[in-house]
Amino acid sequence: MKLAFVVAVAKNGVIGRKGALPWRLSTDLKHFRALTMGKPIVMGRRTWDSIGRPLPGRETIVVTREQKFTAAGAHVAHSIEAGLRLAEEQAKRLEADTIMIVGGSDIFAALLDNADIIHLTEVDLAPHGDVLFPPLDPAQWVAVACDVPPRAAKDEADVRFITYARRQEKLMSRLTLAQASMIVDAALARGRELKLLPLTVVVLDSGGHMVALKREDNSGIARVEIATGKAWGGLGMGFGSRELFERWQKAPMFVMGYAAASQGRMMPVPGGVLIKDASGEVIGAVGISGDTSDNDETCCVGGIEAAGLKAQKGE
Ligand SMILES: NC(=O)c1ccc[n+]([C@@H]2O[C@H](COP(=O)([O-])OP(=O)(O)OC[C@H]3O[C@@H](n4cnc5c(N)ncnc54)[C@H](OP(=O)(O)O)[C@@H]3O)[C@@H](O)[C@H]2O)c1
Repeated sequence: MKLAFVVAVAKNGVIGRKGALPWRLSTDLKHFRALTMGKPIVMGRRTWDSIGRPLPGRETIVVTREQKFTAAGAHVAHSIEAGLRLAEEQAKRLEADTIMIVGGSDIFAALLDNADIIHLTEVDLAPHGDVLFPPLDPAQWVAVACDVPPRAAKDEADVRFITYARRQEKLMSRLTLAQASMIVDAALARGRELKLLPLTVVVLDSGGHMVALKREDNSGIARVEIATGKAWGGLGMGFGSRELFERWQKAPMFVMGYAAASQGRMMPVPGGVLIKDASGEVIGAVGISGDTSDNDETCCVGGIEAAGLKAQKGE
């Protein structure tokens, strides 16, 4: 039986305030409904209080230490282990293969080591709050899907739906499409925040294959090739393209030789940054073209760090 978390988290880690959600997001409520429908959901007593009723189409299990507690329309368990046993019975009855853990922080903290999947809604707000979700350890969790739904009229903020899976050893050195998409979107967002010229962002995997590409409107026509050349050039030598730029000043013959050997596929200027995973292994590279090389590089780093990965600009 799989355990899946469903949680909506603000940019500052806040998930709750004064016993309620600190935002109104109809898009996320629909997403929660779709993920949990037909499955058992396990929640702490305070989250039950905040909802105040059983959710239709799901079996609710409320965890409390209060022996006399009753919850109309829901099952009550007096330990998390007992809650999971009840949830498993209900899952079998419902023919569901997953138990949904829906919070709050006590329940998330107790079960994080047992979770297989985390459906995390990133909320583009930083509200005051009194309940937090911990940052996910990139050595343990990898983003495997990312979806940006359109903002509905009743949404207080933009959201992104990200699915994290627990890392398997064989995934350690693989760049996923979800990670590449997060890098591209965060890099473009950084460029807009800094009011830069239109950027083109390319993400390559460790074999130099393109995984993701986006161009802002009005990007120049050569930007894809330049951004790719920055990422590819760094990847080919095992360092960020800033180092190629520096070697060009010190040893131009070396860089010219590399340009010839690579049949012109490399661009020896900053703006190509290596992507490293938690273990320090290179899993790909980002190349950006559109503004000054230094600004392009700043956005590469912003994109990589926003995806929970490490950036290497030079040697
Ligand atoms: N953004 C989101 O995705 C999200 C999701 C869920 C909740 N929330 C928010 O988070 C807040 C509620 O979360 P919370 O962290 O304060 O509380 P909670 O985790 O929902 O509930 C805590 C309660 O669960 C019971 N409990 C915890 N561990 C237990 C154990 N080992 N054995 C038996 N019972 C146990 C206790 O109930 P008793 O005190 O009755 O013994 C405890 O007081 C609200 O603001 C809510 O809106 C946000």
